[in-house]
Amino acid sequence: MESNASGLVQRLAAAGQSHLLQFWEELSPEEQAQLTLDLQGMDLQEINGFFERAMKMSSGIKQEKMDARMEAVPREVLGSVTRDRDSLKDWELQGLQCISGSKVAVLLLAGGQGTRLGVSYPKGMYDVGLPSHKTLFQIQAERILKLQQLAEQKHNVKCCIPWYIMTSGRTMGSTKDYFSRHHYFGLDKNNIIFFQQGMLPAMDYSGKIILESRAKLSMAPDGNGGLYRALGNQGIMEDMERRGIEFIHVYCVDNILVKVADPSFIGFCVKKGADCGAKVVEKTNPTEAVGVVCKVDGLYQVVEYSEITLATAEKRSDDGRLMFNSGNVANHFFSFSFLRDVVQKYEPQLQHHVAQKKIPYVDGKGQQIKPDKPNGIKMEKFVFDIFQFARTFVVYEVLREDEFSPLKNADSQDAKDTPTTARHALMSLHHRWVLNAGGHFIDENGRHVPAIPSLKDGTDLPIKCEISPLVSYGGEGLEDLVKGREFQPNLMIDQSGVHELVKNGV
Ligand code: UTP
Repeated sequence: MESNASGLVQRLAAAGQSHLLQFWEELSPEEQAQLTLDLQGMDLQEINGFFERAMKMSSGIKQEKMDARMEAVPREVLGSVTRDRDSLKDWELQGLQCISGSKVAVLLLAGGQGTRLGVSYPKGMYDVGLPSHKTLFQIQAERILKLQQLAEQKHNVKCCIPWYIMTSGRTMGSTKDYFSRHHYFGLDKNNIIFFQQGMLPAMDYSGKIILESRAKLSMAPDGNGGLYRALGNQGIMEDMERRGIEFIHVYCVDNILVKVADPSFIGFCVKKGADCGAKVVEKTNPTEAVGVVCKVDGLYQVVEYSEITLATAEKRSDDGRLMFNSGNVANHFFSFSFLRDVVQKYEPQLQHHVAQKKIPYVDGKGQQIKPDKPNGIKMEKFVFDIFQFARTFVVYEVLREDEFSPLKNADSQDAKDTPTTARHALMSLHHRWVLNAGGHFIDENGRHVPAIPSLKDGTDLPIKCEISPLVSYGGEGLEDLVKGREFQPNLMIDQSGVHELVKNGV
């Protein structure tokens, strides 16, 4: 090895990671240079420390269930679209006012690997098969554009909603390229800011970094909570400050129904003087695999379904609802000053969680192996790990069918959260918007199609109906287009008008 690499050999030995050079003599000069570069960029002692703390925390969780320490979200910090109908308009107005003053930014978590969906490109570029074939990124971009227009019309000023997009090493290039090829979907490119989260190596259970090939470490993004470190080390907080951002809406790329910069959610949080808020959907089934927002030892956090007993999951309040029913959907509000405190003060206190995974590796002979059971861990921080630091924390409950349908898995029978379920969720919402605005659907014989699709012939497919976000952000403004009119299913409403598409032609 060259002399400048000898320091590296010592560093690896001191960190118990010398095995990473076991194939050194067999590597080409280019591979040697790349491996040296990868290792030089790593703080091995820090990584070893992450591993020890993460493993300790995860063994602690397994031994002790949370039940006795948990407390449900009190009613006074909860806003609900069903239980607080009278306040909704006020909250929305408040949110629109903040948006019109260009005080609101949105922050997209798009650094995941999308392993379960199984495509090689970023999830935001996925087309779930809507009549328009819009991707998740395009739908979100158009919602931002529309919301800017709504706020501008309401307050008669120009405004902008900056869009911060967090990618990872694996998704940055293709994400940027995609936006550029599509001319930023009509948004001003100066208001879309890409930044990159960190990566960490996968480790085996004894803390050795796993080699994916003879010359390459197995690396993965450090979880959506990697956000906070990335915000700090890439100058994003300074950018927000320069722009005068006061409130930030954080959300995940894979929720096709996401109300980006939702004015009602933002308005509710602002009116409550909150520094941190979580949007939730009601958990109605005790065994549903969803984390719940609640207090533990007096501090807010998300408790995973695996961390509590069935008896606690089944507990009910006086009103008959599940006591721990605030299902977390990773959709959050932060005040700028809270986020800055998190980035500057609290981030180092956050622990990595351990995810056991099947991690492809090379054996001692240099053969690549794909294990069929978990053989190591990935370490991840979670975006919601910071609730504990909030001074005023609030929870905002919305309807799942209106706001949450994540894309996680590829289509297959019995799979949940697939392209098909996402597509159906969006079309079903838009179908309801048309009905609520006074439109009707008729079949080929001119009869009204029932609002709730029947199960006859096993066809419970929703009516094909898609409304461009550029026409309506949340169901508003449709009366002029649909009231009193009858449509064949297969309806598309976009900026050029109302189109009844040829059957099977989309
Ligand atoms: P998931 O945990 O569902 O992961 O991410 P994923 O990458 O989409 O899919 P799998 O687990 O590999 O199949 C929830 C949200 O958090 C983001 C994702 O992009 C998604 O919006 N995320 C996840 C990050 O931004 N960074 C990460 O390191 C992990």
